[in-house]
Amino acid sequence: MNNERRFFDSDQRIRLGIWGLGRGLTFFNTCKVLNIDVVAGCDFNQHMRDRFAEMNPGAFVTDDAEAFLDADFDAVLLATYCPAHADDAIRCLKVGKHVLSEVTSFHTMAEGVRLMETVEETGKVYNLAENYPFSAANMWLARKWREGLFGELMYAEYEYVHECRTLAYTYIDGQPIQPGNQTHSWRSWLNFHYYNTHSLGPMMHITDLRPTRVTALPATPALAGYILDARDGMGGITPSLINMENGAVVRNLMGATTNDTHQQRIWGTLGSAEMIDGKLRLRLGASGHSPKFEVTPHWDELGELAKNTGHGGGDFWTLYNFARHILEGQPAFFDVYRAADCTSPGILAYRSSIEGGRPLDVPDLRHPKQRDAYRHDDFAQPRFDHRVGLFPADADESLTTQFSLTMRDLVRASTAFRAYRDWKQVLPDMTRSENMLSVIDGLIDVLPRFIEVKQIAEKIITAYPSSVAARVLGEMLELCDETDISHPDFAKRLETERREFQHASI
Ligand SMILES: NC(=O)c1ccc[n+]([C@@H]2O[C@H](COP(=O)([O-])OP(=O)(O)OC[C@H]3O[C@@H](n4cnc5c(N)ncnc54)[C@H](O)[C@@H]3O)[C@@H](O)[C@H]2O)c1
Repeated sequence: MNNERRFFDSDQRIRLGIWGLGRGLTFFNTCKVLNIDVVAGCDFNQHMRDRFAEMNPGAFVTDDAEAFLDADFDAVLLATYCPAHADDAIRCLKVGKHVLSEVTSFHTMAEGVRLMETVEETGKVYNLAENYPFSAANMWLARKWREGLFGELMYAEYEYVHECRTLAYTYIDGQPIQPGNQTHSWRSWLNFHYYNTHSLGPMMHITDLRPTRVTALPATPALAGYILDARDGMGGITPSLINMENGAVVRNLMGATTNDTHQQRIWGTLGSAEMIDGKLRLRLGASGHSPKFEVTPHWDELGELAKNTGHGGGDFWTLYNFARHILEGQPAFFDVYRAADCTSPGILAYRSSIEGGRPLDVPDLRHPKQRDAYRHDDFAQPRFDHRVGLFPADADESLTTQFSLTMRDLVRASTAFRAYRDWKQVLPDMTRSENMLSVIDGLIDVLPRFIEVKQIAEKIITAYPSSVAARVLGEMLELCDETDISHPDFAKRLETERREFQHASI
């Protein structure tokens, strides 16, 4: 890997501060090759600040946003809490810093208007760090789409289905939320419609079309172990249908259910493409039964160079586009206007879903009149109070602060148990029954911890039976049926079963 490789014909360096050192840190290595020096970091969390200081000795690091924003640097990589991005970005812009904001751009339509106007007033660069359009396949599709290979967009289905239940109880690095009687600041309650850019973003980038209208029927069944019900929280499925400016329809599917997928299918008037389980197949020939073959998506020249220096993938491109915007003045695709085009349909889809699927126009906030219509639109989903919502006020903290760690490990253990129980039911029909070994091993791995956390969970449930904490712990325990996993015979039976199974598969 050659970290010294230059991507810009310029000696100008961009001094970057990273605000939010969870996801924010994943960009760290790529910065070096893109004329970017990371000179400051800010996070409430001590363990994240420590990791940043270790990776980047000499950089200024603080938990105080004021002190961070006062420091002398050019640009901020903004990776703070998702619903806080607009106000945080505005603070950065107002002190003269360019902003590369993690998804999504804003949480209310009024914030969108404020953000756009601040970008215009300050003249600073603002980009959305939407990275999913910049996979090899999506970039290849974007090139070919723009060459006209597929004709005009008719219909598309893009998905970001991601069951990230554990992240309601941990930071992104897997550490349980501290203090342990609290939940994650937004992943414990945000409705998945809001997190819509990883699926809509690639579709917009490939076709260069803007969304104009959205409708979403509410889907109410929810997975176990989520704080809010499916209508409000992250534990349900949130499909929306979106009209694009050319009259095409797109199904944008986000949410959490029992099959994480990032499948994508896109139909044009001349040809179509589908990315299913990592394979890109095209049907070309302007008919429904034209020849259909797999293709290997190649990077363009710059993409090859990035890949060869160990920096391939979406995060390279969002940083590269941002740096190019600053150094060479060439606007990135996801400037503040497309960031708004991409973010707004999520907010409006949520609103549509609570209004029974009423279709809503997606305003083009570039136009002053449309801006004015949303300037005071503060509509937002009700929030769960992640600090005090789990337990009654007088609860015993020596017990309740064990919650986040207990829940993290219980989620892992109870789903490992459920996989074991349910795969056994279809064992005779499994195409490769030897796969059952990994399922048994998965349960053996977590069993000792399972027994410990089950006891703590039961203690918490008994002490505060009508608390939200008791409900989510109880839902995860219920996945385990009546089985007494704590009985010593259970572990023995499992080991015996494993041996018999291994023997039979030889
Ligand atoms: N594009 C992607 O693939 C991708 C992946 C993960 C996360 N994200 C986005 O990145 C953002 C950050 O994600 P995360 O997983 O690290 O989640 P997070 O919300 O847990 O992280 C935010 C971090 O910022 C810190 N923070 C927030 N406000 C602060 C303030 N005012 N002062 C100091 N520190 C503050 C928090 O302590 C926390 O460590 C989220 O908006 C998320 O949507 C994007």
